[in-house]
Amino acid sequence: MESKVKELTAEVGGVSITNPEDAEQFRLKYLSKKGILAVLFDEFKTLAPEERKVVGKQLNELKQLAEQKFAQAKDLSSNNGSSAKESIDHSLPSEPVDLGSRHPISLVRTSIVDIFNKIGFTISEGPEIEDDWHNFGALNFPDDHPARDMQDTFFVESDYAEKWLLRTHTSSVQVRVMKNQKPPIRTISPGRVYRNETISARAHCQFHQVEGLYVDEGVSFADLKQTLYYFVHEMFGEDIKIRFRPSFFPFTEPSAEMDITCIICEGKGCPVCKQSGWVEILGCGMVHPKVLENCGIDSNKYTGYAFGMGIERITMLRYQIKDLRLFFENDMRFLSQFKSVL
Ligand code: DAH
Repeated sequence: MESKVKELTAEVGGVSITNPEDAEQFRLKYLSKKGILAVLFDEFKTLAPEERKVVGKQLNELKQLAEQKFAQAKDLSSNNGSSAKESIDHSLPSEPVDLGSRHPISLVRTSIVDIFNKIGFTISEGPEIEDDWHNFGALNFPDDHPARDMQDTFFVESDYAEKWLLRTHTSSVQVRVMKNQKPPIRTISPGRVYRNETISARAHCQFHQVEGLYVDEGVSFADLKQTLYYFVHEMFGEDIKIRFRPSFFPFTEPSAEMDITCIICEGKGCPVCKQSGWVEILGCGMVHPKVLENCGIDSNKYTGYAFGMGIERITMLRYQIKDLRLFFENDMRFLSQFKSVL
């Protein structure tokens, strides 16, 4: 028994108690009614009187050591507790919570969506990994169109016969909507698109677009113009002027590009508008009859208009941002400037 007590004395001496859980474990193990010390004292009672003299002293010392250890541990935690209590001043204002801010692209996307929602446009989405047919074929791009070239399109390696790619525009969502819904269709499709472009202040390999589509009986170019006038005035203000220039897209006929008064110089001419006073903000046109037919819509009965704009371009104009790369760098000094626009 003597050696057992010695061993235990060394063990208890080596225990380190750093938190209340440890202290309680310690108490249960050594000091509780069924703990090691209680068992030893029971055993002690059965010893011969000569042995009791020697072991009794050691046993008492062990008990003292254990109690001391436990008391110190309790002191430690109650000290912590009382000093923590004293340091809390309930009248102090709390630490400010940094909520972050919305990304400018999200802010502008939301504004665009709100503006079109007000005149009855729904929102549609499509996948970012597309097949060649939805991105090009159905939209009347000939097989040898240069946009399909490796220069512009990121192709995705696959074992399927169909070519897969990262969509180069949100016009692919038009195709999905027209295939799945019957006219009247009035929808916008915001989303991310990808092109194999060299990254610069004016171009990036990923950016965002919003596509618009309206298909019904008797939809005309006048409806398209009126909708875009409404959009520009809501987005940039009533004073902004608009002009349409004839253009070409395989999926619209006739096609146009739309310019607005340069917001930066208010039409006077500056480097952003290349001294012209105008900046291009979108492409548009009447949906090509072939595209309607490719999507199962009777082109004798229905007509439609479509438009597509870059969200980065609109955001740059709205907040006078000169370098498109800022949108993708997640620099807090740039992003935190949009806090007040929450
Ligand atoms: N998809 C075109 C692009 O990415 C933009 C566009 C032009 C969309 C004309 C349209 C449209 O719906 O009618 O450059």
